[in-house]
Amino acid sequence: MRLKDCHNFHDFRKLAQRRLPGPIFNYIDGAADDELTYRRNWESFDDCDLVPNVLRGVEDIDMSVTIMGHKLDMPIYCSPTALQRVFHHDGEYAVAAAAEKYGTMFGVSSLGTVSLRDVKTRFKNPQAYQFYFHKDRGLNKAMLESAKEVGVDIMMLTVDTITGGNRERDLRTGFSIPFRLTPSALFEFMRKPMWGINYLTHEKFSLPQLDAHVDMSGGAVSIGKYFTEMLDPSMNWDDVAEMVKFWDGQFCLKGIMSVEDAKKAVDIGCTGIILSNHGGRQLDGSRSPFDQLAEIVDAVGDDIDVIMDSGIQRGTHVLKALSLGAKAVGGGRFYLYPLAAAGQPGVERALGLMREEIRRGMMLMGCRSVSELTRANLRFR
Ligand code: LAC
Repeated sequence: MRLKDCHNFHDFRKLAQRRLPGPIFNYIDGAADDELTYRRNWESFDDCDLVPNVLRGVEDIDMSVTIMGHKLDMPIYCSPTALQRVFHHDGEYAVAAAAEKYGTMFGVSSLGTVSLRDVKTRFKNPQAYQFYFHKDRGLNKAMLESAKEVGVDIMMLTVDTITGGNRERDLRTGFSIPFRLTPSALFEFMRKPMWGINYLTHEKFSLPQLDAHVDMSGGAVSIGKYFTEMLDPSMNWDDVAEMVKFWDGQFCLKGIMSVEDAKKAVDIGCTGIILSNHGGRQLDGSRSPFDQLAEIVDAVGDDIDVIMDSGIQRGTHVLKALSLGAKAVGGGRFYLYPLAAAGQPGVERALGLMREEIRRGMMLMGCRSVSELTRANLRFR
């Protein structure tokens, strides 16, 4: 199987599985507890159907959207995700370059493996910084100040990781940063020698956003442990209001799921909210963002940019979300498998296929621009 044989999400996933050592593949692929929410995220799109209109002259399709003051050429962006250079040695550089080519946004995580400044200098497309709120308030302040100095376009505070999700696949494989090689993990790594060679012969693993301020070299830290030990479970609306004020720019909360919280986000001056359950990786049994979208759009859609992520695998999923009133959608695994499978060409192929699916879908729906996608185009069963 090669990159040119990949035609959809599932093909990329398969190729990534072939290339990655088991523990790393399962870190991307896995979710919390019984992975119920993970599955529900994409299944929820099947509960409604698109209702097309025809004969509308659809030779020119404009799929651009504007979110938080930034125009994107396509309505899906690459959500910030952790540890990208572990999945492919070009990591965030590959994703940023592919996103730039397609005129869309990408993000760098607090657990990103390249520095915010590096990507900001090299790429011109809008860039979000996915921020984790640490117990160490000095660390938070220093991270915010550096991001301000770098000129990051959008601050994206993740609010659904107040503690680590129960990722049982990671517990079984021992996945941690940096790697802790248990004998069974060692066996898994030996089965994928090319990954190991690439990993060892490229820029050494680091977490520049954190390394600049704290010593992250002290042995293996599992993702769950990072969340549980370093992030601050006392974080509340007052803390975030203070951050919003300090940032004084585009600021969104990722992981909002209730109308009540959406309203609070408006009250404290956020410019966007991202409905998300972290790809099913945190609270299993939680509702899917798509199921929750309509009531949140109805409540705050005029006051704030409502965006959603989690479960997007197809262009038609994007069309359904936009029809319900989302301003844009984000995706993680939809570009992470391609990244792992083939680096930048992989991500470019995924974005290209997605753009084509959205364009074809809009033509078949009789919609020339995103504003023509409305609830009239959607029926729930
Ligand atoms: C995760 C975090 C790091 O889901 O975003 O693994």
